Amino acid sequence: MNAGDYGNAAAGWASGAARVYGPLAVELVGCSPHPLAGRRVLDAGAGTGLGSAALAAVGAQPIAVDHSHGMLAWDRRRRPPALAGDLSRLPLRDRAVDDVLAAFVLNHLDEPAAGLRELARVTRPGGAILASSYATASGSPARDALDEELRRRGFVPPGWYLDIKAVAVPQVGSAEAMGRAAAAAGLAGPEVSERAVDVGVDHAADLVDYRLGQAQHAGWLASLPAGRRAALRSELIEAIEPVMQPFRPTVVLLAATVRPRGRAAAPG
Ligand SMILES: C[S@@+](CC[C@H](N)C(=O)[O-])C[C@H]1O[C@@H](n2cnc3c(N)ncnc32)[C@H](O)[C@@H]1O
Repeated sequence: MNAGDYGNAAAGWASGAARVYGPLAVELVGCSPHPLAGRRVLDAGAGTGLGSAALAAVGAQPIAVDHSHGMLAWDRRRRPPALAGDLSRLPLRDRAVDDVLAAFVLNHLDEPAAGLRELARVTRPGGAILASSYATASGSPARDALDEELRRRGFVPPGWYLDIKAVAVPQVGSAEAMGRAAAAAGLAGPEVSERAVDVGVDHAADLVDYRLGQAQHAGWLASLPAGRRAALRSELIEAIEPVMQPFRPTVVLLAATVRPRGRAAAPG
């Protein structure tokens, strides 16, 4: 699967999408079954480093991995060490890290359970695997209105985005599905919750900046003349203002641990 057009996405992610993904990274870190301070934690699918920042804020020592050089290069001098690599085969030895944070990256994989298994391989026994995805049930009239306005102005969702919606998202987009993926990966004690999170996006301008900052829009926005981009933002804000309500995305949050090697799940 084409895992996304993130080569062009870093600036929009950092200035717009971060309004939502920043608070969601903090929420996921807060799900850890044990304190992360002093521990070496892999930020898998790190993007522009929002998860790494949330980890550093609780005293962890993050290491980032992502297959997009463009995302890893963002703010490079202030970010923790990083590796370019794919979640299907990480460039790390077995048990290299204490814990893993995988924020909104399993939903890019054809087989999220295989991705969780690979994350478990590089994690010490007893380490936490923390993962998140949007819930397929997550709804927002203002976001839907915004998407419709974008379509009316010529935006066509790219194939990779439609692919992940069709193939990967159903495998992690509910508490049940995420629980099944964790069980298939052999993780211990999975705790999965599905809940709406207060990300503080209360105004139309914030919702527009978040949505436009997501990677599916990056290529299309880059193809527009600069003046058109600025006008588009104002038009979209005006269009959704009448239906704007606080945006509270529903997310699926997984907190599980890695079993000691050779120990299978108890039957039943
Ligand atoms: C939705 S973004 C999330 C970024 C970050 N975790 C956050 O919450 O802001 C998904 C990230 O995963 C990366 N990614 C997607 N598929 C990947 C894969 N197979 N291996 C490594 N990184 C991948 C993308 O390049 C992108 O940076």
